[in-house]
Amino acid sequence: MPILSGRARVAGIIGWPVAHSRSPCLHGFWLERYGIDGAYVPLAVPPASLPAAIRGLAAAGFAGCNVTLPHKEAAFALCDRVTDAARRIEAVNTLVFRDGKIEGSSTDGAGFLANLRAHGVDPARPALVLGAGGAARDIAAALIDAGASVSIANRTPGRLDRLLRLFPALTPLPWEARAAALPDFALLVNTTSAGMAGRPPLEIDLARAPPSLIVADIVYAPLVTPLLAAAERRGLTTVPGLGMLLHQAVPGFAAWFGVTPSVDRALTDFVAADLGISAPASSPGA
Ligand SMILES: NC(=O)c1ccc[n+]([C@@H]2O[C@H](COP(=O)([O-])OP(=O)(O)OC[C@H]3O[C@@H](n4cnc5c(N)ncnc54)[C@H](OP(=O)(O)O)[C@@H]3O)[C@@H](O)[C@H]2O)c1
Repeated sequence: MPILSGRARVAGIIGWPVAHSRSPCLHGFWLERYGIDGAYVPLAVPPASLPAAIRGLAAAGFAGCNVTLPHKEAAFALCDRVTDAARRIEAVNTLVFRDGKIEGSSTDGAGFLANLRAHGVDPARPALVLGAGGAARDIAAALIDAGASVSIANRTPGRLDRLLRLFPALTPLPWEARAAALPDFALLVNTTSAGMAGRPPLEIDLARAPPSLIVADIVYAPLVTPLLAAAERRGLTTVPGLGMLLHQAVPGFAAWFGVTPSVDRALTDFVAADLGISAPASSPGA
């Protein structure tokens, strides 16, 4: 880490736990690349201490912070101003402390879209989103905003119903119908945690997938999930999840440190190495 001056800008990530977070590695890479007089630190904060911690960071002159599990909803409630995207999902992952106010945003949806576009994929197409958890909310909203018609299926109907109440523009699809319905879609997005290292793979038969189907997975460890591997075997275009993780970090870094960082091959390799995975040579680095 470079030596800091007394004017250094400081940001960090609040989570409980936070040790698993790759954000310090990612932002540290950019700080070094751009020679910025600044630091980005992990901040382990238990839920009961969250309001005091956030207000304390703002009072201490932090530029802002990321917020990860389990604090995204609670941090939303502490904001003075939030973006439209954050208001709709009632959660934030990025805080900027400006003019004595706490500004909150949620950048996962925009990061997902940026990753699709970096792979040459226009998001405005009929999409089937699998999953109805926290990430699905952001992604479904971003796809709708981008002009996609979005259907959504979740293993547990109750959770899907809650998401549908937030986003009436979504079309529900029974979980059991997901494979048979593939011919109706141009984009398939896995937002479930199935396929993560140590978890069972996502259960879906791609036999009925049209040759033009694009398959995106937001799980990034492993980089090539069983779903993506199955799609590749069928010759389908795939979009791995690591790029979303990198792109969602861009707006926070730009706000805190005054430089819009680029997402490229060197960053992808650096974060992949930190995760203990390797990015395939074909990855566009985004
Ligand atoms: N690339 C990125 O930047 C990025 C960003 C955010 C999250 N993620 C990843 O996205 C995944 C989901 O995160 P989240 O925060 O949305 O999690 P979450 O809120 O806990 O939601 C988990 C979702 O996965 C479903 N699910 C879990 N196991 C399943 C299985 N075996 N079969 C079918 N569905 C299953 C759940 O369905 P039920 O309702 O039926 O339980 C639920 O819809 C995680 O792997 C996370 O690491 C990646």
